[in-house]
Amino acid sequence: MTATNRYTNTAIVLHWLIGFGILAMFALGWYMSDLPKESGKLASYDLFDLGVYTVQLSEAISPRTFYFNLHKSVGFSLLFLIMFRLYWRFTHQPPALLSSMKSWEKTLAHAGHHTLYLLMLVMPLTGLIMTIYSKYGLKWFDIPLIGGLDNAPLRDLFKEAHELVGLIFIAVIALHIAAALKHKIIDKDETLKRMSLHG
Ligand code: HEM
Repeated sequence: MTATNRYTNTAIVLHWLIGFGILAMFALGWYMSDLPKESGKLASYDLFDLGVYTVQLSEAISPRTFYFNLHKSVGFSLLFLIMFRLYWRFTHQPPALLSSMKSWEKTLAHAGHHTLYLLMLVMPLTGLIMTIYSKYGLKWFDIPLIGGLDNAPLRDLFKEAHELVGLIFIAVIALHIAAALKHKIIDKDETLKRMSLHG
């Protein structure tokens, strides 16, 4: 494949890092919401009980608080990676879509990609604004970063937004993955290779 019809290595690394990061954020978001509000507090956590990494904290907190803080910390970090990705996208022209694609396919692909960029930004922003309006604020990996404003109505508004945007986002991500697989399995074209480091 020539250099002009594949993505740059930077774009490829950002795509997969942020893609898997967002999927992990969905899994964590749904997992943590089901944790009980009342439970024993601990000052050290074996991450997801995998026996791989134990986190030591400055104070004892409940599992729910621990995983909420983790979600907020990883999400806040992802927001910066996403902003860098948008900067990269604005300053670098992506390769043109394959000439074998029909014009309606190209229009749909462009619309889908722009929607993904928008949702990638709106999703962490609604989470961050909800967090700022909550009484807890943001503790970034155990470091107090932003104090909470304790405004319940606005916290609830952005919580609803975060959940609704999440449903739209996961549906668009599913379509994006289905389209990539269609190119690979049915069309048998180079689309997926363009987004692979060793394509
Ligand atoms: C790419 C980023 C993100 C994704 C994919 C994501 C996904 C999710 C999901 C799936 C939920 C569960 C919603 C439900 O119960 O239906 C959730 C909840 C939540 N998220 Fe995020 N999130 C992201 C970023 C953030 C960020 C940056 C913050 C804050 C700094 C944040 C704060 C929260 C909070 C506080 C909740 C719990 C709401 C509650 O039940 O009170 N999220 N998120």
